[in-house]
Amino acid sequence: MLNELTEEQQMIRDMVRDFAQKDIAPLADKYENEHAFPDVILKKMGDLGLLGMGVPEEFGGCFSDHFSIFLAVEEISRVMPSLAVIFSVHCSLFCYALNHYGTPEQKAKYLPPAARGELLGAFSLTEPGAGSDATNLKTKAVRDRDDYIINGTKAWVTTGSAAGAIIVFARTSEADRKKLSAFIVEESSPGYHVTKIEEKMGLHASQTAEILLDNCRIPASNLLGEEGKGAAIALNCLDGSRIGIAAQSVGLSQRALDEALKYAQNREAFGKPIARLQAIQMKLADIATDLEAGRLLWHRAASLFDAGKPFTKEAAMAKLFASEAANRIVYEALQIHGGYGYSKEFKIEQLYRDARVLSIYEGTSEIQRLVIARELLKQ
Ligand code: CAA
Repeated sequence: MLNELTEEQQMIRDMVRDFAQKDIAPLADKYENEHAFPDVILKKMGDLGLLGMGVPEEFGGCFSDHFSIFLAVEEISRVMPSLAVIFSVHCSLFCYALNHYGTPEQKAKYLPPAARGELLGAFSLTEPGAGSDATNLKTKAVRDRDDYIINGTKAWVTTGSAAGAIIVFARTSEADRKKLSAFIVEESSPGYHVTKIEEKMGLHASQTAEILLDNCRIPASNLLGEEGKGAAIALNCLDGSRIGIAAQSVGLSQRALDEALKYAQNREAFGKPIARLQAIQMKLADIATDLEAGRLLWHRAASLFDAGKPFTKEAAMAKLFASEAANRIVYEALQIHGGYGYSKEFKIEQLYRDARVLSIYEGTSEIQRLVIARELLKQ
């Protein structure tokens, strides 16, 4: 397979690359260092139509294929990994879920402001006691005439403190633990409280929140998809967004390679740039090979996704490989920097921290292996 991008995909990639250099790069360090949410950049992304990439034109977006959304994730991640996950969750979890499972009324209400960037979306499956065991939720939703009342605590919600609406998964049956349902919950709903913003090791500009739903009342019309089908909705949405995390991993890895190449050509030891030492060249070659393999895996999964073919296994493989490769890559890229890599003066220190979560969120590496094995055994 000769893996070339279409003209339109190349155009989108180049446009996002240009935007990332001109509009994200100058602000990225400030947001990262101040642990501040990058609202000014997101406003520009909304104006440019980037936040509507997953939204059909009739709802104000500029729907592209999924492949192009992941290309954008990779380019953004190369410059600002924390912004890449905000973008990925908004497009590949929130907008995708609404577009795929929403009623015409739900799409008309939420997708146009999401495409303009006036409403950022989030997705909340995880709870303090339910991460990998995703269907073991304690949050309950009970029907009360024309409303649902939701009670529970949701955890690790990317963009949780800044989102205008969140897709919340809750249990709707006492008898069957897998009978979950999905709901669109607005941040202005009564009983909705952001109770904590996590102090994380990395991705400091991405705010990750804990949300308490305390008798949170929402209209019954905000049920997303069928009642009791929430587990399948969550896992279907995660299949796609895991390709986004693979692309985020590749973007971050590309940046680590860029930084390692620059450093190795400038730093001298034993009377020459260290890039001329074979010990360093071996590391650079391994980094580039790992990086390219991760990229090809996400390209393959995204092509299957866009072709409407099964891609659960390929998405899990891409996420597993690219996220673990990113961790190997930042380790070696930091090693090339020597002591300077341990200093905040060099970008690699931040990339090293940012990479760690890639093999954890949106399904740990262990869960990806489980998904791959389940698909193999089905065949
Ligand atoms: N696509 C669509 N439906 C699927 C599916 C898929 N890939 N896989 C399973 N399903 C369906 C099943 O058919 C079943 O449907 P019915 O209830 O209608 O029969 C339902 O989903 C439940 O499936 P399982 O019985 O297979 O579920 P399980 O409890 O055995 O779980 C698992 C399997 C793979 C371990 C799953 O729980 C999992 O992926 N866990 C990890 C969760 C995860 O990735 N969490 C991250 C959350 S997001 C995040 O990180 C925060 C953020 O903001 C970035």
